[in-house]
Amino acid sequence: MNILVTGGAGFIGSHTLIELYHAGHTAVVIDNLSNSNPVALRRAAELIGVPEIPFHQIDIRDRQALEQLFAHHTFDACIHFAGLKAVGESVAKPWEYYENNIGGTLTLLDVMRHHHCKNIIFSSSATVYGDPAEIPITENCPKGTCTNPYGWTKSMLEQVLMDIQKADPEWNVVLLRYFNPVGAHPSGRIGENPNGIPNNLMPYITQVAVGKRPELGVFGDDYDTPDGTGVRDYIHVCDLAAAHVAALQCFTAHSSQITAHSSQITNHKSLIYNIGTGHGYSVLDMVNAFTRVNGVSVPYRIQPRRAGDIATCYCDPAKAKAELGWEAKYGIDEMVRDSWNWQRQNPEGYPEP
Ligand code: NAD
Ligand code: UFG
Repeated sequence: MNILVTGGAGFIGSHTLIELYHAGHTAVVIDNLSNSNPVALRRAAELIGVPEIPFHQIDIRDRQALEQLFAHHTFDACIHFAGLKAVGESVAKPWEYYENNIGGTLTLLDVMRHHHCKNIIFSSSATVYGDPAEIPITENCPKGTCTNPYGWTKSMLEQVLMDIQKADPEWNVVLLRYFNPVGAHPSGRIGENPNGIPNNLMPYITQVAVGKRPELGVFGDDYDTPDGTGVRDYIHVCDLAAAHVAALQCFTAHSSQITAHSSQITNHKSLIYNIGTGHGYSVLDMVNAFTRVNGVSVPYRIQPRRAGDIATCYCDPAKAKAELGWEAKYGIDEMVRDSWNWQRQNPEGYPEP
């Protein structure tokens, strides 16, 4: 298939490109580079073994640019990663988040339907479950109250996509709810490249390990978890990337079999999958695994809880295995090994393009 990859220069997008090409697909990337660097695309092309990955610096809110793109390419499907994703920033700048993520996606969907491209995989998030009603979280778990505008953009866009599919059954919508992506390509050539102070645990750990920050703050040790620190379902980004390739089969002949199995989903052509490992690890589990595997210590200090955090979040990934034949291959050791390999080789992230 020829796939439009929005946000393809970013962390998850760049890793997904490698899996797509290895599976025999081709891709065209659009990205406004607001949170990414084109060097990631050059390096992804090197790892794939192609001279370049077709790239257009386009903002998904730019209807005219999208129309031009679709006038020159035929796409079988879109994998839609583009969006702003910093939880704290979204609290300070809600309008910017709704306008970019929701406004941009509405424009993208409109141009897609004008050009009869109605297959989409959307990057959703475990955040839509809010404080989850059940652990492990299955796809039947009700959606919850999000604690920030970023989370609401994901929750609202899921609804938008399902409503559009219901109104026009030519659409095929796959909502992948990612748990906590970490790790990097094992080569260390591409990885997560946060701007400024990292919000997320793993890039903070690697920046402490490489000496850029003095110590990790552990946000709370009084949760109702085995060691009191927050428990999450960390997933290696290469496993997450592979899940997108597996999800493409929803757009082919197999899809009727898959939808037949999805009896619990009222709207049969909007398919929802949890993408995680099914294992929960605490903050201290991650710190200890990092030190054990990499031989580098990570000084930390217990701090107060972070507003909006929940105690425990991990999924039951059985549905993705049963219907897509996908399951995570990598464990915690590979996650911390590859995160460190990327950071060690690229202490300042990507170079200027
Ligand atoms: P990322 O920031 O590395 O990648 C997103 C890309 O989208 C960036 O390259 C950015 O420049 C681009 N972008 C943003 N707004 C755009 C616009 N208006 N037009 C064109 N390009 C635009 O983030 P990521 O970690 O790779 O996440 C990819 C997707 O997965 C996002 O939608 C994110 O919300 C979602 N997600 C991420 C996580 C996570 O923890 N990383 C968890 C759940 C869901
Ligand atoms: N944590 C620390 N110190 C830090 C950073 C995080 O102790 O410096 C703790 C948090 O309190 C939490 C755990 O590490 O217990 C994981 O925190 P992250 O910020 O890495 O991830 P979250 O689970 O809070 O959220 C992430 C993304 C969300 C997404 C969610 C589910 O940031 O956008 O995973 O996919 F919605």
